[in-house]
Amino acid sequence: MKIIYSKQYMLDKIAQLLAEVDTLKAKSAEEVEALRIKYLSKKGEITSLMNQFRDVPAEQKKEVGMKVNQLKQKVTDKINELKEQLDSVETGDNSLDLTRTAYPIAIGTRHPLTIVKNEIIDIFSRLGFTMAEGPEVEDDWHVYSSMNFAEDHPARDMQDTFYVSPELLLRTQTSAGQIRVMENTKPPIKILSPGKVFRSDDDATHSPMFSQMEGLVVDKGITLCDLQGMLDEFARNVFGEGVRTRLRPSYFPFTEPSVEVDVSCFECGGKGCRLCKDTGWIEVLGAGMVNRKVLENCGIDPDVYTGFAFGMGIERIAMLKYGIPNIKMLFESDVRVLSQFHE
Ligand code: PHE
Repeated sequence: MKIIYSKQYMLDKIAQLLAEVDTLKAKSAEEVEALRIKYLSKKGEITSLMNQFRDVPAEQKKEVGMKVNQLKQKVTDKINELKEQLDSVETGDNSLDLTRTAYPIAIGTRHPLTIVKNEIIDIFSRLGFTMAEGPEVEDDWHVYSSMNFAEDHPARDMQDTFYVSPELLLRTQTSAGQIRVMENTKPPIKILSPGKVFRSDDDATHSPMFSQMEGLVVDKGITLCDLQGMLDEFARNVFGEGVRTRLRPSYFPFTEPSVEVDVSCFECGGKGCRLCKDTGWIEVLGAGMVNRKVLENCGIDPDVYTGFAFGMGIERIAMLKYGIPNIKMLFESDVRVLSQFHE
C-alpha cells in the first residue's frame, strides 16, 4: 500500500527535528559521528524525510521541500559546528585567548619536617659529614645492649619500647645506627643519620613516631670542644646569627660525659620570654663523648680513638623554628597548615 504523507505530517516532523537540532551536543569526535549517522546517513532521519517527500502531494511539494532543505542545512551546519568546537579544544585555535596570563599552577611546598631535615643535612655536609641510615626495626643489641644500657634500665620497659617480637623492636633512637656504622667502619668516622624513631609517648609535644637526626664523629683527639664548635655552627644556621650554645651536664648510658645542649633564646635574645620560660635558654638536643664501653663493643680501641655523638628531634627543631604549638600539626597533612612553610 502506498502511503501518502500529508503536508501537515511532514511540517510537524520537520518542526520537531528543527527543535531537536538546537539541543545537540557532543563531547568527542565519536559522538559527532554518531549524530551524523543518526541524521544524515543513508538511513538517517533527514534522508528518510527526503524519501517521504517524494510521496507528498505535488501541490504541497514546494513548501515542504523548502522546509526539508532548511532542516538539512541546519543539521549539517550544527554538526560542522560541533566538530569545530572539538577541534579548537584539541588544537588550541582562535576560540582560546592566547593573550591572557596563564592560570597559576598550584605546585605545593615541601613539608616543614623535610625543609628542616634538609637544612640540617646541608649544614653538617658542609662540615664534612656523610649520610648513614639504619633500619627502623632493630634488635636489642643495637638499640640497648651495645649502647651500655643496663639489663634492667627502665627505657627497655614496654612503656617506652614497641616490641615487634621478643628479639626485635622499633628503634627508640637513631643512636642504634651508630653501632652498625662503628661495627663496619674504621675511624675516622663522621656520619649523620636521620630517621624515624618510635616511643610509647603521646601528648602535645610528643608523638609515638617522630624523627631524629643523629651525628657521630670518631677519630684521634676528638674532644667536647669539637662537638660544641659544630653545634654552634648548627645553631647559628638554623636559629639565626648571634645564637649561642650551652652545654649542661646530663646522663646517657652510651656517652660519658653526657650533655644537654641549649641554644640561647632566639625570640628574646636571652633576656627571658614565654618561649624560653624566662630562662633565656632553650633545650634542643642530647649529646656527649662516646662511652669507652660503646667503642669497645664495636671493636674500636678507646685508648687510641675518641668520639662524640649528638641526637636531636627534628619535629622539636621545626616546632621551635616555626612556632608550631602542637606536634600533631606536623602529621595531620592539613594543606592550610603546610602551605605556610617555605624554604
Ligand atoms: N639518643 C638520645 C635520645 O634519643 C640522644 C643522644 C644522642 C644523646 C647521641 C647523646 C648522644 O634522647
